[in-house]
Amino acid sequence: MVIDILTLSPGYFASPLQEGMIHRGIEKGLVRVRIFNLREFTLDRHRTVDDRPFGGGAGMVLKPEPIVRALTFLQGIPPGRPYRVLLTPRGRPLDQGILKKIVAQGRLVLICGRYEGVDERVGAYYCQDQISIGDYVLSGGEPAALVMLDGLVRLIPEVLGSAESIHQESYEDHLLEYPQYTRPGNFENHKVPDILLTGDHARIRRWRREESLAGTLTVRPELIGKALLKAEDLEFLALAKEAAKKKPDHRKRKH
Ligand code: 6GU
Repeated sequence: MVIDILTLSPGYFASPLQEGMIHRGIEKGLVRVRIFNLREFTLDRHRTVDDRPFGGGAGMVLKPEPIVRALTFLQGIPPGRPYRVLLTPRGRPLDQGILKKIVAQGRLVLICGRYEGVDERVGAYYCQDQISIGDYVLSGGEPAALVMLDGLVRLIPEVLGSAESIHQESYEDHLLEYPQYTRPGNFENHKVPDILLTGDHARIRRWRREESLAGTLTVRPELIGKALLKAEDLEFLALAKEAAKKKPDHRKRKH
């Protein structure tokens, strides 16, 4: 996979590309990441990338010309036609399904916007997609580009260690992951659930499934509707909904 990033802060990406899974993917030659400074695509003496908004208002807006000049340049260099994404809080929310679709494209250009905004015509006429990483405001699209990069690289076959860990995880089936424990079995009098020490794999599998269901119901109830549920899951959820009315969950924040 080839991922190009257009940014006004190219230095932002220096150390993240040298760490962890992204670094491993690059070293193995499974992903190529190229960082481009948008300022390099300006033509004026002052290398202007932004301007005041038509209609007035605070802040500056990224001009279309440097971005589109960069996109045209990237269009001309192989491999293939890139999938162009504008990173903006006004985009559609990123999820695992979007990541899977993009990794299948093989070539991606990420445009890092500024929170004040990018001229609307960039997203409307020069991009295939506009993506946000959540309902909060960042000062620029750079952290979102790193989020996408990480999520994409680990979907490339051969990057992740075992094929199994990718299949069994959160969001793959629209449920949150079950809780994990390791030694010691008793940590400051907080004990690992007994069931995990029984060696009864069928019962452990059921317990984990129910922990996934209960955790999702508590923290992300809107996901439950997307999950593929069996009769026994529905039965458990009905009971869990009753129990939830009485018992508080430590993951649920009280403001
Ligand atoms: Cl992609 N950009 C900015 N500036 N803020 C965001 C975002 C992106 N996604 C969530 N908040």
